Amino acid sequence: MTAHKKLFIKTYGCQMNVYDSERMSEAMEKAGYRPTDSAEDADMILLNTCHIREKAAEKVYSELGRFRGLKADKPDLKIGVAGCVAQAEGEEIVRRQPLVDLVVGPQSYHRLPEMVAKVDSGARALDTDFPAEDKFEHLSARPKAARGPTAFLTVQEGCDKFCAFCVVPYTRGAEVSRPADRVLTEARDLVDRGVREITLLGQNVNAYHGAGPDGDWSLARLVRELARVDGLERIRYTTSHPNDMEDDLIAAHGDEPKLMPYLHLPVQSGSDRILKRMNRSHTAESYLRLIERIRAARPDILMSGDFIVGFPEETEADFQATLDLVQAVGYGYAYTFKYSTRPGTPAAERPQVDPAEADDRLQRLQALIHRQQHEVQDAMVGRTVKVLFEKPGRKDGQMVGKSEYLHAVHVDEAGPQTGQIRTVEIVKSGANSLFGKLSGT
Ligand code: 5AD
Ligand code: SF4
Repeated sequence: MTAHKKLFIKTYGCQMNVYDSERMSEAMEKAGYRPTDSAEDADMILLNTCHIREKAAEKVYSELGRFRGLKADKPDLKIGVAGCVAQAEGEEIVRRQPLVDLVVGPQSYHRLPEMVAKVDSGARALDTDFPAEDKFEHLSARPKAARGPTAFLTVQEGCDKFCAFCVVPYTRGAEVSRPADRVLTEARDLVDRGVREITLLGQNVNAYHGAGPDGDWSLARLVRELARVDGLERIRYTTSHPNDMEDDLIAAHGDEPKLMPYLHLPVQSGSDRILKRMNRSHTAESYLRLIERIRAARPDILMSGDFIVGFPEETEADFQATLDLVQAVGYGYAYTFKYSTRPGTPAAERPQVDPAEADDRLQRLQALIHRQQHEVQDAMVGRTVKVLFEKPGRKDGQMVGKSEYLHAVHVDEAGPQTGQIRTVEIVKSGANSLFGKLSGT
């Protein structure tokens, strides 16, 4: 029997990269590689990278620096760069980083096995095309191994929105949706392997328009069909754009019990002037009206968002408008970013905000959001939620899972098994999670 080679994948960035890393790992099994969680042990190291902000991109180069020593000790070690940095800077990586054997962009993963064969023969391999074929179709079917109760499933990739700060339309390419039957087949397979909750992923997931047997399906239609899959108990999706929040999807939040009451809906800024300069094609007011409609359909929905502070030309008054919008919404979660200049994007050429000022705004926004998150979390005390248990907690006998609202919930009693959904009464709100006791059913 031939010994298997070992593959170590390090994943940076968003959930789509997490999903892609899983699929790459599966595809590499065909090429004779088994996963390992130790870089030192590996025959191949693959960095699945993120290019969204400068800091994320820089991490790749410092990580490559660390691997120089490993490769000196183990000359046969192969090093690959995948993901959005590979897409954006692939040729430069090949030119400047002799220790890198393989560079593969996010739309070319199905070609990995061939690329690896080339690398194993001593050559270097670069592929950053945007091929017409669907990479997921060509990636091997997912093996039948059992898995945990939650999974990601990419249904849509790429973006045509061209926000002035964002590299995604360049690194992930134009918007493409996977055909509905493939998504359903993959979902059923995940459920057969123990998955109870699926999070549908896409850079603009609510722009989904995959081919179905009777014409293109919207995300709402896809959700409703997925809800008919026996054994699949929960459906989530992320990330959405306000302009693609259609009526049928809002309605699904009102009447589809398997669709969880949590919505990540980035707005980026509360200033109409800045939103316009960001090319967002919505206003603060239209965003607030949209949330009103969503809450009318599902009053308890927990809202989440993304914000950028220090976007070029942002004034204190613009920033105040962002604080006002946050106050008006009341977020259960929100992610805040300091604007990062991305080469090749329109905003990179514009007058930049003083970095100290941007830092100060970031801190003020984070303080407000932190308060809000805690208010929302604390308000769960005394309520009864359904928890999907995922794994044992740190304490003996403790189990941890997620509520419908995506709060982590700890329960100290014996009973709940991984993959079970149980009714829990929330008794305490901690720093980052809730504590509860099993109740009734
Ligand atoms: N600088 C800072 N944050 C950014 N994002 C995207 N591009 C940039 C950038 N250049 C943030 C947006 C987006 C999230 C995924 O990352 O808020 O919603
Ligand atoms: Fe980037 Fe805007 Fe597209 Fe989101 S909608 S991926 S922020 S360009």
